[in-house]
Amino acid sequence: MQILVTGGLGYIGSHTSVELISKGFDVVIVDDLSNSKLNVFDKIKKITGKNPNLEIKDLKNKSEVKKLFSDYRFDGIIHFAAHKSVNESVNFPEKYYKNNIGSLENLLENIDEKMHFIFSSSCTVYGQADKMPIKEDFPIKKSESPYGETKQICESILKKFCDNNPNFNNITLRYFNPIGAHSSGLIGELPLGKPENLVPFLTQTAIGKRDQLIVFGDDYNTPDGTCIRDYIHIEDLADVHVSCLEYSIQKKNKKNYEFYNVGTGEGLSVLELINLFEKVNNVKVNYKIGKRRKGDVIIAFADVSKIKQNIGWVCKHSVDDALKSSWFWEKNLRDE
Ligand code: NAD
Ligand code: WQD
Repeated sequence: MQILVTGGLGYIGSHTSVELISKGFDVVIVDDLSNSKLNVFDKIKKITGKNPNLEIKDLKNKSEVKKLFSDYRFDGIIHFAAHKSVNESVNFPEKYYKNNIGSLENLLENIDEKMHFIFSSSCTVYGQADKMPIKEDFPIKKSESPYGETKQICESILKKFCDNNPNFNNITLRYFNPIGAHSSGLIGELPLGKPENLVPFLTQTAIGKRDQLIVFGDDYNTPDGTCIRDYIHIEDLADVHVSCLEYSIQKKNKKNYEFYNVGTGEGLSVLELINLFEKVNNVKVNYKIGKRRKGDVIIAFADVSKIKQNIGWVCKHSVDDALKSSWFWEKNLRDE
């Protein structure tokens, strides 16, 4: 079966492409290189020993998307391509609306009802939930950022599209915090410039690329005062896409629009994560407590019972493994 992976050279897309290829799917990657490097493609080929198709195209461009759909016959689409910086989205909201919403609309214009569709959403759609763990039926609150808003709008677009096209099947996955790298050390997260996310900042500090990691606040109402998140190994995240695709192909969907949390179900504080990183990798991280970062939710971790019950999917990797793989990846980048 031929699967289109949009944003397939990015962090989550590259790991998922590897997983799909290793399960025997025929993969077509489309990416505009706006947040990725061409050499990721060589790494995907090296890990899998296969030669997937690569199309360097911008999904904002209607005619390029149309051409893509006339050149191939896709059985499924996993749509990762989007801009993802919360900070940047506050300063350049238009860039986010145009790309994140426009690209989805261009895909849907060309879609055949028989294609299985999987969409990358985010725990950011919940904002600060009132209770933990977060269940899928919790309210979607007003978004703190244009980025979060694009995910809420895309979810609504897909829901409407499914209502109007009863034979079309979509699964929306709301990821919590993906971390880690492929066990080969060949692919991982490649932040351009100064990382916004905790783990890339942590590994870059540990290796000496950054002087010091600032912990954004230790005066929150949590056991150690730092924020709590649900950190999921990227290899688990890659695996869940393949499981959802297979579930959809096997026509196991109960509804034609389904949506799931994807996390471990466990919350870790920033200090717990740093301590764990130091312990499992036997390395010291220079960090200090700083001020709170604007817009941070205090606690977010997933209730993962829905995906376990419906799709039969559970995480296989530990946070320890994820932090070991992040460190292995950072050291490989240095030695490249
Ligand atoms: P990423 O930036 O590493 O990957 C996205 C890829 O899409 C990049 O390779 C980029 O070049 C490509 N792209 C962007 N716009 C494009 C366009 N118009 N046409 C073609 N290619 C385009 O991001 P990621 O971390 O792999 O995230 C993948 C998806 O998951 C995104 O939709 C993101 O919003 C979502 N998500 C990510 C996280 C996270 O923490 N990484 C969490 C929740 C949800
Ligand atoms: C984790 C914790 C920070 C950096 C973001 C997006 C969200 C989703 C996942 C896409 C927080 C703290 C961080 C640092 C720190 N992405 N931190 N020092 O904020 O949970 O979520 O990525 O959909 O939409 O907002 O992830 O890794 O940035 O932060 O103390 O230098 O680490 O305050 O508590 P976050 P993160």
